[in-house]
Amino acid sequence: MERPLERPLERRASIRTAVVWEAVSALLDGAEGQRVLDIGGGTGGFAVRVAELGHRVTVVDPSPDALAALDRRARERQVENRIVGQQGDLAGLDELVEEGSVDLVLCHEVLGLVDDAEAALATIGRVLRPGGRLSLLVSQRHAAVLARAMAGHFTQARDLLDGPVDGAGAGERRFTAEELEELLAATGFTVSDVHGIRVFADLVPSTLLDLEPGAIGGLIDLERAVAGRPEYRTTAAQLHVLASH
Ligand SMILES: C[S@@+](CC[C@H](N)C(=O)[O-])C[C@H]1O[C@@H](n2cnc3c(N)ncnc32)[C@H](O)[C@@H]1O
Repeated sequence: MERPLERPLERRASIRTAVVWEAVSALLDGAEGQRVLDIGGGTGGFAVRVAELGHRVTVVDPSPDALAALDRRARERQVENRIVGQQGDLAGLDELVEEGSVDLVLCHEVLGLVDDAEAALATIGRVLRPGGRLSLLVSQRHAAVLARAMAGHFTQARDLLDGPVDGAGAGERRFTAEELEELLAATGFTVSDVHGIRVFADLVPSTLLDLEPGAIGGLIDLERAVAGRPEYRTTAAQLHVLASH
């Protein structure tokens, strides 16, 4: 059951993750005791919820602070017996996780941080069992161009048009849906769903969400309604892709 969202940050987080969480939990629906790997799972926002559904989750993340927070969160929610945190890197996954041993990999907001996205996807393919699934969440380039331009950063927007790396110097790689689908095909994945995430959420000022009762639920409903519509994909801050290997 959803817990009440008391604080503005929690509400914002819920808007940002609701559609992705629904797709991930639908993937797991009806399956029991799945072996889930959350690569770059950070403080366990998703991992803990997956463990609460009864699955076993390994979180691999290079940050000791994130892993400590994961540990605390897992204990608070009483799922520490179903979650293991391991310090490590997506690029070095082969050394940490046995080949063909995972039913579902979550790779959310991490692929854009590695030097070689294609090699990283190939590594994920190796740790998945045959027919295993991937939930991949990345930043979407067209929306970042729009956001830079709307903020008056026209040179950054222009730079981002032609190059996949953020012109603001953050170093994160952003993808178009076509690039992502090509990379996934090249590494042996079959894409089943592509969703646009945060099509409107980042554009709506927080003050508007406080003005009208039910505004947050209405925005989440709208995000859900447009997620699968290709015509809205270019304004989505993120792309969420489900694929099998
Ligand atoms: C933006 S956070 C995303 C956290 C979580 N996946 C989520 O969606 O809420 C990025 C996470 O990736 C981790 N990270 C950064 N570089 C990584 C790498 N090369 N391999 C694996 N994880 C990495 C960071 O420590 C951080 O926890």
